[in-house]
Amino acid sequence: MTTELRSRDWFGPHDLNGFAARSWMKNQGIPARMFDGRPVIGICNTWSELTPCNAHLREIAEHVKRGVYEAGGFPVEFPVTSLGETLLRPTSMLLRNLVSMDVEESIRANPIDGVVLLCGCDKTTPALLMGAASCDLPTLVVSGGPMLTGRFRGQRLGSGTNVFSMSEDVRAGRMPVGDFLEAEACMSRSAGHCNTMGTASTMAGLVEALGMGLPGNAAIPAVDARRRVLAHDAGVRIVEMVAEDLRISRVLTRDAFENGIRVNAALGGSTNAVIHLLALAGRLDVPLALDDFDRLGHDTPLLVDLLPSGRFLMEDFFEAGGMPALLAELSDHLHRGALTVTGKTLGENVADAQCWDREVIRSVGQPVLRRAGITVLRGNLAPNGAVIKPSVASPHLLRHRGRALVFDSVEDLAARIDDPDLDVDENSVLVLRGAGPRGYPGMPEVGNLPLPKKLLAQGITDMVRISDARMSGTAYGTVVLHVAPESSAGGPLALVRTGDVIELDAQSRSLRVDLSDDELARRGQSLTPPSPVADSGYQRLYIDHVLQADRGADLDFLVGRRDAGVRRNNH
Ligand code: FES
Repeated sequence: MTTELRSRDWFGPHDLNGFAARSWMKNQGIPARMFDGRPVIGICNTWSELTPCNAHLREIAEHVKRGVYEAGGFPVEFPVTSLGETLLRPTSMLLRNLVSMDVEESIRANPIDGVVLLCGCDKTTPALLMGAASCDLPTLVVSGGPMLTGRFRGQRLGSGTNVFSMSEDVRAGRMPVGDFLEAEACMSRSAGHCNTMGTASTMAGLVEALGMGLPGNAAIPAVDARRRVLAHDAGVRIVEMVAEDLRISRVLTRDAFENGIRVNAALGGSTNAVIHLLALAGRLDVPLALDDFDRLGHDTPLLVDLLPSGRFLMEDFFEAGGMPALLAELSDHLHRGALTVTGKTLGENVADAQCWDREVIRSVGQPVLRRAGITVLRGNLAPNGAVIKPSVASPHLLRHRGRALVFDSVEDLAARIDDPDLDVDENSVLVLRGAGPRGYPGMPEVGNLPLPKKLLAQGITDMVRISDARMSGTAYGTVVLHVAPESSAGGPLALVRTGDVIELDAQSRSLRVDLSDDELARRGQSLTPPSPVADSGYQRLYIDHVLQADRGADLDFLVGRRDAGVRRNNH
């Protein structure tokens, strides 16, 4: 052991505090030898029946425990607030930072020497990483794994992506509602998180790219026995990491984040990763800026052909070799020397990895797209930036001029979008405001605005859409997101009026409204800032302290690393 275990402060002393720490734990049937100085491993669990993607994590935790015991550690599982995308209102993103606080304070306040993070559904991965990063103990992530491929009447169904496409089919009269309801159970047929390259799969992939998970972590299906083996191995490895004092800050370096950005591009990963990586880097004082995503990602080829950008699903990706195969193929674009939780470098981890299906994981020589990545837009409509994911956009719309049709809120959108008299055509630019971090609050995934029913009926499948919101990683379209500053923070999106002409040019990274600076200033003077939608409670704290999207939408007072020291005892 190279360092004194912090758990000895709790379990070591032969005094009142030591007695209390040991005695009450013994009421769980824990033998005295567990307090003999072996490392205490926290298993931070986001299990919840209200987070269906993580509902199997109690079982995964048991396999982590087996590994911890095997390696001579003492495992202790503890719950933190869980976040499920499909049930939480107004949006799970509002609670990501709250959960990160829960994680950080739970780790710091308890006799924990190293921690395994069990996560799966979208926000659970960044929330747990952010909280653990602020404590800086040895940390290893075990993801819950994706669901099996959905199947409906011979058709493969991808989580999320096919919900969007089928719901548009219902609205356009192409699919009976009865079929739509029958497809529900067909799409979600096993434990696990979304099986498309949505935010959950993206973040699980980035866990490997960042060096925070064991090789193979991202893609093994949730119900596959090999995920239990990986969890067991993680339990063994975290005990070794404590002995090596291999803290999260030694893994999550600038090089690791650069790898994450490039891998996100090669995966065709979610735009949400931009916000989560910025927030995570902020917790570790690693310099990372919005423009890094464009600069580092734009010359990275798209190699993974998964929905929503492509054709396949996570089960196919697993069978093709998963993240190790992708990382090996992409290795010339990566910092191969970045240290990982295995104690080896990223390059060493994947040195023997092979690809078994070049349709799913393409070679660098024959990519899906030669230049992928997320494009960062700027201009008088987004002074601090906005993002677009060209791989899911319509190429002909990436350079577009059109009349704005403005919606002040999601309620306004819902009330008017299907109005037969709506003054809209396929060249219009749909604008939604009031959906940013402060304004909603919580920056929901509503940026892929539904198309007007009357245009759907004409066979229109995509339009330029702009908002200060986010978009589900499973969604697609020519969608400009994360406009900063948001309208509720005085951003120019608040000044646009229906009929103004908006110009998007993704190639030149420009997003502008055809208005002079004087006109924008004049409109700004007559603008009344909206009142906060909450005047007390956590939501008010969030509104008062949330940073804008270009800074990761963390709370300003959570930025930075506070380490795991506790200065005072409890008795
Ligand atoms: Fe949980 Fe998609 S809803 S990962």
